[in-house]
Amino acid sequence: MKTGLPVIFAVVLGLGGSTVGFVLAPAVQLGSVKQTTVLNSTDLYPPQRIGDATLGLQVYRANGCAACHTQQVRQEGVACDVGLTGPGKNPQALSNLLSTLTLTHLTKEAADTVADQLTAAGGKVETHIVPAGADLDRGWGVRHSVAEDYLYDYPVQLGNLRAGPDLANIGVRSPDANWHLLHLYAPTSAVSNSKMPSFKYLFHLQKAGSTPSPEALNVPSSFAAPAGYEVVPSPEARQLVAYLLSLRANQPVYDAPFTPPAKP
Ligand code: HEC
Repeated sequence: MKTGLPVIFAVVLGLGGSTVGFVLAPAVQLGSVKQTTVLNSTDLYPPQRIGDATLGLQVYRANGCAACHTQQVRQEGVACDVGLTGPGKNPQALSNLLSTLTLTHLTKEAADTVADQLTAAGGKVETHIVPAGADLDRGWGVRHSVAEDYLYDYPVQLGNLRAGPDLANIGVRSPDANWHLLHLYAPTSAVSNSKMPSFKYLFHLQKAGSTPSPEALNVPSSFAAPAGYEVVPSPEARQLVAYLLSLRANQPVYDAPFTPPAKP
């Protein structure tokens, strides 16, 4: 048993190393994540997920949505947006100048130049720092994803393939529950060239009465059920949609700050 000691050493190192790497390090990094507050506000983030939306996570998981969709928005840096806070003394000259300028997604130097030009024309300006990157340009979010976004997800459905768009912020991007139901029932009825598979089995056909029942889906005629029938979403379909609408990673938090656009 000359080799006994090195073998034991290798086993301890292998098991110990992977325990540290896969269990202890993530626990130290993320184990204490808890609800935080929205930047410059006392509102808690993320809001607790309730009712159907909680069940919907399991429907999302069971149907393999994460095979084609991620829920993780990346950010590559920040850019500057220049906003006008006051019209100044000569609004006409200012609006002429504005029509020649780009105010969003500028470098710091370009933002300073634009701000100087607007100030010289009498305007009051404010420069905002905004998150930037390819995912954000695609409209998938307003900042990068942070650990708190997943606080109420178990298991977390990060996904690693983007056959379809990222869904981290889909509840903000598409807030209409009926649109989602229709899209799940017949994706091409909502997005004409959609390559997403249909999830028809989350719906059933029901004999239609003289007037459509309130829970029936309003399906365009080319996708409609056979005459005398109507399409009714199952509880799972409704739970899934409630979950999708709860995906709203759009608040600035301390580890991903930004200035939300001023409310008009
Ligand atoms: C085989 C891959 C695939 C699977 C599985 C899949 N999707 Fe999709 N999904 C797509 C593609 C491609 C698109 C883009 C076309 C479209 O909007 O229909 C898309 C689009 C979407 C959109 C619209 C996104 C937007 O930005 O407008 C939502 C919401 C969505 N999928 C939800 C789901 C849900 C929920 C599931 C699981 C029940 C699912 N998808 C399963 C491929 C997939």
